[in-house]
Amino acid sequence: MDTVKILFVCLGNICRSPAAEAIFQDKINKRGIAHRYKIDSAGLINAHAGNKADPRMRKHASQRGYDITHRARQFDPEIDFDAFDYIIGMDNNNIATLKNMTVSNRKLAKISKMSDYCTIFKETEIPDPYYGGYEGFEYVLDLLEDACNSLLLKLEEV
Ligand code: 4NP
Repeated sequence: MDTVKILFVCLGNICRSPAAEAIFQDKINKRGIAHRYKIDSAGLINAHAGNKADPRMRKHASQRGYDITHRARQFDPEIDFDAFDYIIGMDNNNIATLKNMTVSNRKLAKISKMSDYCTIFKETEIPDPYYGGYEGFEYVLDLLEDACNSLLLKLEEV
């Protein structure tokens, strides 16, 4: 079976997408299927490139058992559209930015929105927690856990 390659994308790559990466990685590690996946994350701006995830996100994630070790990097349309099968943005702005980066239908078809995988929560975006309080980080983690569970189920069903 081919490796399934998933890239989670947000604006800064220090809050939502590295958390999504860590949560999805944790799920496939626990199921013993990590060898069949390649998981990464990237941001649409390079302001935080090379940095660890936001300390607030690392703290809230670690309280749930997720260790976020990712260093931020900027999404590279020249490389990432080919290197990944699924390019999953967190909000409508992320999706619009990604879609503006290519005219290739093959590449456009790889783009999806994280909240569309949620089954428990009925949100249309994973909201940016950067300028808010701790509840925002907890809520993002709730949404990401929901989305990661359903995404993994969907991928393992095929
Ligand atoms: P993220 O959150 O996109 O979930 O990583 C943000 C982090 C930084 C900024 C915006 C959103 N920023 O403007 O620096």
